[in-house]
Formats: sequence, C-alpha cells, structure tokens
Amino acid sequence: MEDYKSIFDIQAEVGLTKQIGGLKATEELVELCHIGRGKYVLDVGCGVGLTACYLAKTYGCRVGGVDIRKKMIDWSNERARREGVEDRVEFRVSDAQDLPFEDDLFDVVICESVVALVQDKQRVLNELARVTKPEGYVGLNESTWIKTPVPTEWVELLASDLSDRGQPLTSDGWVGLLEGAGLRDIVTRIHETNARSESSNFLKRYGWGELLRILSRSLSLYFRSPAYRNIAKEAASVPKNLLEYMGYGIYVGRK
Ligand SMILES: C[S@@+](CC[C@H](N)C(=O)[O-])C[C@H]1O[C@@H](n2cnc3c(N)ncnc32)[C@H](O)[C@@H]1O
Repeated sequence: MEDYKSIFDIQAEVGLTKQIGGLKATEELVELCHIGRGKYVLDVGCGVGLTACYLAKTYGCRVGGVDIRKKMIDWSNERARREGVEDRVEFRVSDAQDLPFEDDLFDVVICESVVALVQDKQRVLNELARVTKPEGYVGLNESTWIKTPVPTEWVELLASDLSDRGQPLTSDGWVGLLEGAGLRDIVTRIHETNARSESSNFLKRYGWGELLRILSRSLSLYFRSPAYRNIAKEAASVPKNLLEYMGYGIYVGRK
C-alpha cells in the first residue's frame, strides 16, 4: 500500500487537481500572456493535464506539461488521448526547480497553484524565466495572503506535510520573485475567493461524469488506506474562514 503524505499524493491517486480561482484564473493567464494559435506553451506542475489539454483544444497551441508526480503525468497522457490532442501536447515527469528544457524555448510558461508548494521559490522562477524566449511571458496563479497578520496556526497548518509544506506569499512577495528572475512589465491582479465558488469551479472543470468517477475512486481508497483516512481527517480540520485571509494572484512578467 502506498505511503501517502499529503493531499497531493491522494489527488495523484484519484486523478484530481485544481488551480485556485478555476477556469476564470486560467483565462486571465491566457489574456495577459497572449496565449493563442501557434504559441508554444509550458504548464509547470500540470497536475492531471486539464489546462494543457484545454489550451491545445481551445486555442490551438502546442503545449508541454511537467509534474513532479508520475501518476499526474499518467492521468495527463490518458486525458490527452481521450480528448484527441495527443499530437499537440507532451507530458513529462520533472521538478519545477530543474526543468529538462533548453534555454529560450517556450513563448509562454505558466504555473497554476504550484510555486507555493516549493521551498526554493526563486529557483523555480529562475527556471521558468530561463526556458522562456526573450519577449515571451511567464504567468503565475498563486495563493496569496490578502489580509494580514495571518493567524500563526494557519501558517503552520499549511506548512505541514498535509499540504506539501505549502507557503502562500503576499503579493509583494510574489512580485519580488518575478523581479528577482529578471522579468519586467509585471502585471498583478489580486482576487478574493470563497468556498462556494471554489467548489463550483470543480464542477465546471470536470463535469458530473468525471467527478463521479473521481468520487468513486476516492471512496474505494478511503476504505483501503489508513493513511488516506488520516489525511482526510487532517484536511477536514482546515479552518473554514481561511479564505478570508487567502485569495489568489495572477502575476505575469515579460522576459
Ligand atoms: C494544486 S496542484 C495544481 C495542478 C495543476 N496546475 C492544476 O491546475 O490542476 C499542484 C501540482 O503541483 C505539483 N508539484 C508540486 N511540487 C512540484 C515541483 N517541485 N515540480 C513540479 N510539480 C510540482 C503537484 O504534484 C501537483 O500536481
């Protein structure tokens, strides 16, 4: 039996991931990064491949996707086959801190709800900028503290194994990372969110059919895995008003 440590290990098992802000946030990245037909886009921390397949299908881009978890890449490949975009998307297992691509390759590099989970955030931003072509765009959608001071116990909860030792930043913190990677013309949009809109984003993203299949895999795992039951219990203890303090930011810079 697998040794699940965080909710993302569980998500990889059942085939579920989500970016904060949902499709609306992805569409903001599309607009601000000028994603369109013929562009070569990289989605770093692509999860189960929804955004990569969506961009290939809707905007006719060529898309690369990487994720640190092999199971995420398996789900992504299966989705690309199902959605008939295998000729335009390619997925690989890789760490965002050490991307397996040459310099100046992609027109656009995006990262949706991933950098908060990595300890060396500046190293990730440097990598995103390195593989982007000169004049190309780097776009992030990341959880952002919108009200401070944040109660210490929440910071500690998010920084635990449960959420992959995640660490949201303030908008100044995120902008500082883009600047540190040498990006310019930085555009920032900060949004509030709430539990209701985040749940309805799940439905819009997956549709009832896929959500029911995910639910059935989750239930089966719940009964088989004590580690899953522990994580589910811990996840249920996340304070309900966390989203008063944590929203999301869209941060885009140009190389
Ligand atoms: C909150 S999910 C978001 C996934 C995807 N961007 C989406 O919108 O559905 C975070 C993803 O980042 C991946 N991840 C975490 N650390 C990573 C790293 N160092 N390099 C690459 N991917 C990473 C996780 O495996 C997970 O799939």
